[in-house]
Amino acid sequence: MNYLGLLSSLLFLSNLDAFHYSKLAQYVDSHQEEYVEVLREWVAVESDSSNILKRSHVHHMMDVTAQKLRQLGGTVQLINIGNQELPDGQTITLPKVVTAQFGNDVNKSTVCIYGHTDVQPAKPEDGWATDPYNLTEVDGNLYGRGASDNKAPVLAWIHAVEAYKMLDMELPVNVKFVIEGMEETGSNGLDSMILAHRDTFFSDVDYIIISDCGWLSRKPALTYGTRGNCYFFAEVQGPKQDLHSGVYGGTVIEPMTDIVGLLDTLISPSGKILVPGIREAVAPLTDDEWKMYQDIEFDLDHYKSKIGVDQLMYSNKVDLLAHRWRYPTVSIHGIEGAFSDPGTKTVIPAKVTAKFSIRQVPNMEPATVEKQVRDYLHSGFAKRKSPNTLKVTMVIGAKPWLADIQDPLYEAGKAAVKRVFNSEPDMIREGGTIPIAKTFQDVTGKSIIMIPIGGFDDGLHSQNEKISRYNYIEGTKLFIAYLHEVAQIKKDTV
Ligand SMILES: *[C@@H]1O[C@H](CO)[C@@H](O)[C@H](O)[C@H]1NC(C)=O
Ligand SMILES: *[C@@H]1O[C@H](CO)[C@@H](O)[C@H](O)[C@H]1NC(C)=O
Ligand SMILES: [Zn+2]
Repeated sequence: MNYLGLLSSLLFLSNLDAFHYSKLAQYVDSHQEEYVEVLREWVAVESDSSNILKRSHVHHMMDVTAQKLRQLGGTVQLINIGNQELPDGQTITLPKVVTAQFGNDVNKSTVCIYGHTDVQPAKPEDGWATDPYNLTEVDGNLYGRGASDNKAPVLAWIHAVEAYKMLDMELPVNVKFVIEGMEETGSNGLDSMILAHRDTFFSDVDYIIISDCGWLSRKPALTYGTRGNCYFFAEVQGPKQDLHSGVYGGTVIEPMTDIVGLLDTLISPSGKILVPGIREAVAPLTDDEWKMYQDIEFDLDHYKSKIGVDQLMYSNKVDLLAHRWRYPTVSIHGIEGAFSDPGTKTVIPAKVTAKFSIRQVPNMEPATVEKQVRDYLHSGFAKRKSPNTLKVTMVIGAKPWLADIQDPLYEAGKAAVKRVFNSEPDMIREGGTIPIAKTFQDVTGKSIIMIPIGGFDDGLHSQNEKISRYNYIEGTKLFIAYLHEVAQIKKDTV
């Protein structure tokens, strides 16, 4: 082909392409009321996975999810993942995992979209301004439990596929879905489901997409890392029963004093982790990373006022973001067995269990952290010469996840953001844990991208959760554009 021929065919291609996108975007705009209605129906299902009394609603939600995908013409399955053991020994059925497939063209890449349609608990008396299960629009924001986490993002992906179908446009890639109903309580049963289907459902998947997080500011963002978490119980057992402090105080070595002393050795007031070996394991901050953090739009004053504090651990943006995303930290969550009711009680608790966690980042290893924490607490406890007994257990050991931002998946993400929002995305990490990302990475060996559409102020897990109509609708367009961009990646470049 001569130069002119090449040029004209390129022009033709880009014209065709632009034409397709604007038609799809127009379709989305003209169907937004329907999208809001479906979200209303989904939010109305009280699919709270943490409350076993609501389990039938979660089962119903998975049926609703499957039905929506089936209506679109997907090959849909509801996969039984067994039972959940309750602390009292009872068992209860886990919500089925919904899988769906659209297209199986061997010449196309296959993306697999992960999401969840269970939600956190919500009660009006927690301080909701509206009924949490009755989607309510106020000033362009759609308020309701699960609106942003994760019902609207799951629906936005479904609408994206639907737009291609309704306009009779071929999907640029094969699209699979994995939607679960236990995410908010730790994705019970999902790891083994992924492992069991590694060589079947997941065998032809090239890329995994997760949209279960939010932007950092009003700018679109791509997320390339999450922290893991090691959660510990430290139990100190003393006398065989609770004692009266007036009668026995001064004669016994109190478990509570032991545990408070030990907890105080975990982290310094300036945020330095004192457990030996932990800080040394952390991957150093590179110049490139520093520069990236510098470029991110982030308002410290807004952050302070949002959480209601006058002072943060760090006063500059880079340090603050780095400690939010890419350094470990210790949080002390509670002491089981301690007296915590209102009023006074002169008790010496016989047994107390402290609960704390350490967020994990590259290159920490949960198994190593477990040993470091255990050794450190036991040696500190030995120095106290207490007759009580200490037992340290790690009850969660979730690894961190980090993507390579040079991966073509992220280039495709940037191109899609550019097309829809005409801007560059912020490249961000999440301070929290999305354990399933690491599982997908380890089990399938595929690359993963996180493309959030939720706003920075959506109030996930909190009162008055919302997603803005803007984020929901433009987010749907972003997913449409992403399906196109990801199809441009040559399979052999990955
Ligand atoms: C895939 O591509 C090959 C080579 O271009 C072609 O021969 C084959 O028919 C294609 N298969 C499908 C299902 O389109
Ligand atoms: C939801 O709220 C609207 C507006 O307040 C009200 O008209 C409607 O009856 C409510 N629906 C349900 C199911 O409570
Ligand atoms: Zn979520």
